[in-house]
Amino acid sequence: MIPFSSLTIDDQTINAVETAPLPITDFQALSEQELYDRTAAAKTRLSNQVLILGHNYQRDEVIAHADLRGDSLLLAKQAAARSEYPYVVFCGVHFMAETADILSRSNQTVILPDLAAGCSMADMAAIEQVDDCWETLAKILPVEDVVTPVVYVNSAAVLKAFCGEHGGITCTSSNARAIMEWAWSRREKILFFPDEHLGRNTANAMGLPRDAMIVWDPFLPNGGNSEKAIRRARLILWKGHCSVHQMFQPEHVAYFRKRYPEIQIIVHPECHEDVVKLADLVGSTEFIIRTVSQAPPGTIWGVGTELNLVNRLKREQHDKQVFFLSPMVCRCATMYRIDAAHLCWTMENLVHGHIVNQIRVPDDEKTMAKLALERMMALS
Ligand code: 13P
Ligand code: SF4
Repeated sequence: MIPFSSLTIDDQTINAVETAPLPITDFQALSEQELYDRTAAAKTRLSNQVLILGHNYQRDEVIAHADLRGDSLLLAKQAAARSEYPYVVFCGVHFMAETADILSRSNQTVILPDLAAGCSMADMAAIEQVDDCWETLAKILPVEDVVTPVVYVNSAAVLKAFCGEHGGITCTSSNARAIMEWAWSRREKILFFPDEHLGRNTANAMGLPRDAMIVWDPFLPNGGNSEKAIRRARLILWKGHCSVHQMFQPEHVAYFRKRYPEIQIIVHPECHEDVVKLADLVGSTEFIIRTVSQAPPGTIWGVGTELNLVNRLKREQHDKQVFFLSPMVCRCATMYRIDAAHLCWTMENLVHGHIVNQIRVPDDEKTMAKLALERMMALS
């Protein structure tokens, strides 16, 4: 084994390791207990070298090893702040690990235990489509003077770079309102992507009239809008959504309200506005956890967000009744790919001197994406 103090992210050093990386299949055959014990042992051996970050939607067996868990904003801040760790193992999805790579120091290495852990919403906006949209808008308006691009962090690094380059900014579910206020204070219009629901729900809460919002469908000419509607709009919402949160429906809220008249409904802002309007409270995953945890004993909650989070909340908050708001299984299938086997595989490979699944944002994207993220951080 190479002593950890001599490991660097220099490829030559890594290639100097004589043994091949351990294959994932060796880990997929292990029992839950073996995976737990071996991950814990690897973590002890790696001691101060590795920081494990876990998003609130991760499975329990992954969260069990996390040094910190939280929402996208909290984890992004931690990635920026914990420069003492050479390795950050990010148990979340690809865009979160990219954000960690952008915000961490150059001598830190960010690892995503399974590269297939993407985000279907992030995939709904490709840079070519966003470039096309911007060029189309430029034919109708002086776009650089009147439109601020705002990208939800649930997006590829190259889109964050686009915003950095065009005077724009990133946002998360916990700071979208402050970011939109900032954007409108600078320019008359916002192009918000890729989640139309977060953009619309935030604008609704800010009192923006409906006729000031349009939806941009990247597969239609002019996004499906007349030039007149584009000129009039204050908010251009990209046609994108989260496949998990779109499953919550108004009738689910109605069902629980009828059954438990005293119930409080709390949902994530990626839900459809028809659900958000019926809810008592709306906020990020961290807001949901904090609100339910701090509520008085005996209170009843209907929670509209991913299933792993809600199930954990149910178990941790024995003195309250917590219900999952949908009869369907709304699980983030991509988050779910990070399992105990992939985490153990990542950690044991690190012990053996192998960095598997490093996330590296190209330098040219990094600079501009960092600018957009830092603008957000300054407002958060
Ligand atoms: P949060 O920032 O609220 O944790 O949301 C992340 C996410 O992907 C929700 O779908
Ligand atoms: Fe993406 Fe939705 Fe999963 Fe969040 S819950 S990571 S938005 S697919």
